[in-house]
Amino acid sequence: MGRAFVYVILGGGVAAGYAALEFVRRNGDSRDKLCIISDEQARSLLLLCLLSFNSCSVAPYERPALSKGFLLPQGAPRLPEFHTCVGANDELLTKEWYSKHGIVLVLGTRVTSADVRRKTISYKTLIVATGARALKLEEFGVSGSDVRNVCYLRNLGDADKLVDVMGSCPGGKAVVVGGGYIGMECAAALVTNKINVTMVFPGKHCMNRIFTPKIAEFYERYYTSKGVIFVKEASVTSMEVSAGKVTAVMLGDGRRLTADMVVVGVGARANTGLFEGQLVMEKGGIKVNGQMQASDASVYAVGDVAAFPVKLFGGDVRRLEHVDCARRTARHAVAAILDATGSVGDIDYLPFFYSRLFSLSWQLYGDNAGEAVHFGDLAPGDGATPKFGAYWVREGRIAGAFIEGGSRQENESIAATVRHGAAVPDVPELRRRGLAFATQA
Ligand code: FDA
Ligand code: NAD
Repeated sequence: MGRAFVYVILGGGVAAGYAALEFVRRNGDSRDKLCIISDEQARSLLLLCLLSFNSCSVAPYERPALSKGFLLPQGAPRLPEFHTCVGANDELLTKEWYSKHGIVLVLGTRVTSADVRRKTISYKTLIVATGARALKLEEFGVSGSDVRNVCYLRNLGDADKLVDVMGSCPGGKAVVVGGGYIGMECAAALVTNKINVTMVFPGKHCMNRIFTPKIAEFYERYYTSKGVIFVKEASVTSMEVSAGKVTAVMLGDGRRLTADMVVVGVGARANTGLFEGQLVMEKGGIKVNGQMQASDASVYAVGDVAAFPVKLFGGDVRRLEHVDCARRTARHAVAAILDATGSVGDIDYLPFFYSRLFSLSWQLYGDNAGEAVHFGDLAPGDGATPKFGAYWVREGRIAGAFIEGGSRQENESIAATVRHGAAVPDVPELRRRGLAFATQA
């Protein structure tokens, strides 16, 4: 390959975009110092030591747009509108921006091997930002992922396919497999596109990693009012395919759901494969310290792939597959890498999750662990704007909080309450005060 860089970012998603902006902010012109390698919309398979500098593919973009605005029937945003870093109301980094700042983008290029000791591509520091990949149905023993009307949603190519498939069956039936983030957001998008949705998942309720049963009940009732059918505690065992398309989905209990299309969101796995056996792993990701530095000091990991200590949770190591985490860990790693004076401390991250579903919008801060104390009206009447939430109390303190329909100020108050780990001497009193506990603290 014959080129040497001071910094190489492996992966060209959310974290890579935010890291690039941070480099430029802190370092000025990055001419020949920084290179980003990404296989997004890959067109070639090359080794890390045999890179081709083509520019045929996409620069980093805000992945959350794919399951929201991108799927709208009208006025859907398209690139370059949602390149990073517009999601944080910051600069729009187009390919021209990278070129203006001397950052080399190696796009459409998959790295198939990496040797962090021998460094076959010359770098001083490697930032691993390889994100995660969608789990395939095949991993649960069901075949059919490659069929024309079976959709996943991880990258732009997947989103383009989903839009095409939705367009091919107006008024048709979709089976959504999975009741997590992808399942919930895609189901909302499908309904908005006038497609009839049945959701199938093994849990007792949707979003079971995050929602309490009461919170889930609200969203399920809301979705049901939009025509969504829930098939819970069920799993897909096979799919019937005819003329290259899935026509029905078979469930473990023998039920058969006819389908014009299938959307699958059954979880994600961090892309750690290149570094297995080379770097210490934890929680399914690359273990890093508070500076985002891996067990080999020349390697940093950020975003979905990084398992890092969360100070707020007493240094407990977490891997968080969320965009705010990708943005902040990327910026922190760059700050730590460029820190000449040793003034950058360990990351002090407040975990933050959010989703937007139809006209609903929820946020969760911190940890959903401990006793859940709900507040607000979880069963608002027709036409009422919902506003409710929950605190999680652990060892007499607020460990986490959830809010649906919060104003900006309420969301900020909730975040601050979690950040400070507000003391809860009296749980019934917290229940009585509800949202005011945070907003009138
Ligand atoms: P990301 O996946 O963004 O980027 C990884 C990059 O590495 C990709 O470009 C990939 O192609 C590349 N790569 C991987 N292996 C490679 C290799 N061997 N060679 C070259 N390149 C390689 N979160 C949230 O908080 N709120 C939200 O609303 C949403 N919405 C949302 C919607 C959808 C559809 C998805 C899929 C995800 C979300 N998320 C989200 C999650 C959020 O998008 C996710 O946490 C970030 O994208 C993680 O950023 P990373 O940069 O770590 O990975
Ligand atoms: P997820 O972990 O949120 O949900 C997976 C769902 O699949 C769960 O409901 C689980 O019960 C179900 N499931 C597991 N095995 C199954 C099976 N065999 N059959 C049917 N259902 C099964 O994962 P996801 O929704 O696929 O999301 C993938 C990634 O995208 C995650 O990293 C997520 O954080 C990210 N994402 C985040 C957001 C957001 O933060 N708003 C939005 C979209 C995607």
